[in-house]
Amino acid sequence: MRTRTRIGSKPPVRRPTTKKPVRKAAKAPAAKRVAKPSPKSTVTRVATARPITKSWGEAGKALDGVRILDFTHVQSGPTCTQLLAWMGADVIKVERPGIGDITRGQLRDVPNADSLYFTMLNHNKRSITLDTKHAKGREILEALVKVCDVLVENFAPGVLDRMGLTFERIHQLNPRMVVASVKGFGPGPYEDCKVYENVAQCAGGAASTTGFDDGPPLVTGAQIGDSGTGLHLALGIVCALYQRHRTGRGQKVLAAMQDGVLNLCRVKLRDQQRLAAGALKEYPQYPHGKFGAAVPRSGNASGGGQPGWILKCKGWETDPNAYIYFITQAPVWGEICKVIGKEEWITHPDYATPEARLPRLKHIFDTVEQWTMTKDKFEAMDILNKYDIPCGPILSMEELASEPSLRASGTVVEVDHPTRGKYLSVGNPIKMSDSLSEVKRSPLLGEHTEEILQKVLGFSAKQIAELRSSGAIGGIDVKRPKEAAA
Ligand code: COA
Repeated sequence: MRTRTRIGSKPPVRRPTTKKPVRKAAKAPAAKRVAKPSPKSTVTRVATARPITKSWGEAGKALDGVRILDFTHVQSGPTCTQLLAWMGADVIKVERPGIGDITRGQLRDVPNADSLYFTMLNHNKRSITLDTKHAKGREILEALVKVCDVLVENFAPGVLDRMGLTFERIHQLNPRMVVASVKGFGPGPYEDCKVYENVAQCAGGAASTTGFDDGPPLVTGAQIGDSGTGLHLALGIVCALYQRHRTGRGQKVLAAMQDGVLNLCRVKLRDQQRLAAGALKEYPQYPHGKFGAAVPRSGNASGGGQPGWILKCKGWETDPNAYIYFITQAPVWGEICKVIGKEEWITHPDYATPEARLPRLKHIFDTVEQWTMTKDKFEAMDILNKYDIPCGPILSMEELASEPSLRASGTVVEVDHPTRGKYLSVGNPIKMSDSLSEVKRSPLLGEHTEEILQKVLGFSAKQIAELRSSGAIGGIDVKRPKEAAA
């Protein structure tokens, strides 16, 4: 039978390290039995060290000393642990011998080499292959639990419990362990469901609010369900580690994909409530279309209080990305009118104020488009920026891959890999002045099995050989293209 671990339930308190023992309250009157937290006693401040004198970036990384037992696969979990690895955590990825993370072999572009799907989500990690359903594999797993700070997983609901790793067992082995999970849904009717990216986008409100009014719901290319939830989980983990400084104990952290997507769609829940007060005037349905009971899809309308739309630029007939996002920000309305040659709109009562413009937005954007179509998107951007008119070119992946400023900032990096050669990846998008990120290639399957068994767990060469012959661990899976072709 599958055991369910309810994340909402309170973790068992085994070893509160910073509190005095709770005094017996048997004789106290009922009202006084609940201990009142005193501001002084409940908060033990982390010692404020004197600032280090080393130069910026020379004082190690933000998460140096944090060891992560990485049980993640596919995208959501690996996104989270990759971020933590970039911040300096030692991330030990546990994979099934001979198989590994399923993405190693998905969407392959180079025969027998780890796919870009895998390599771009697993930088800076170490890989150990371990059959966790093997008795000896299970022993190693438990030994790792004892020496790690965080266990991150995004298995289907119930998998970790079936491995014998209930939160209670983990907490027994290591009360300081933070146990962090991505699941498709939080507690509720769908909590047992398996979920992938687009399911989360649909269940979290993104699809119903994306697209055009006369078309079906649309999913977005941004992986807000997987990578977005991985980001949420990473924040939860760092907060749990921070809280552990005070409490001395770990806790469960859950990031459900539906919740993560809804959080990213919160402006749409805002608009849902605004509907009660009447039409959403910045939506393209206003003033001629209809509003129903739910927030409609708003095409390319801006999500905020400043109307915006995507407009054609020179070359749009042949280039699918010859477009610019244009915002009619109120403070620069006069400049917009001058640039597009409509100076009379500056004072005309139908156009002079944001309120007057709302029912005419389609006509206004059509007119601005007559101007943008005479310029390519970069020319338009240059001219509009001179007047502080907010706008942005629609950049293709091809353009982003070769954008010099993104290469210079480390947001797009070239990585070398032993079996696939050089490839481009997105580096750490979070820049910190004293915790500099370097992007190291993803590990081959089982590349660090021996290293981890020896250096982290203290196994001897003989013990490792025995483990290998038992089938509990795998070998290093280094299939170079040449060998594979032979
Ligand atoms: N040794 C032995 N077995 C291992 C193992 C190891 N090192 N690592 C994993 N396994 C086994 C697990 O024990 C489990 O087996 P069980 O079902 O017999 O208990 C199985 O591999 C993994 O199961 P599962 O997580 O169900 O994988 P899946 O490929 O069927 O489903 C998902 C994939 C993503 C749909 C599912 O994991 C999921 O819903 N995850 C949560 C939501 C999520 O993160 N989704 C986004 C993915 S990007």
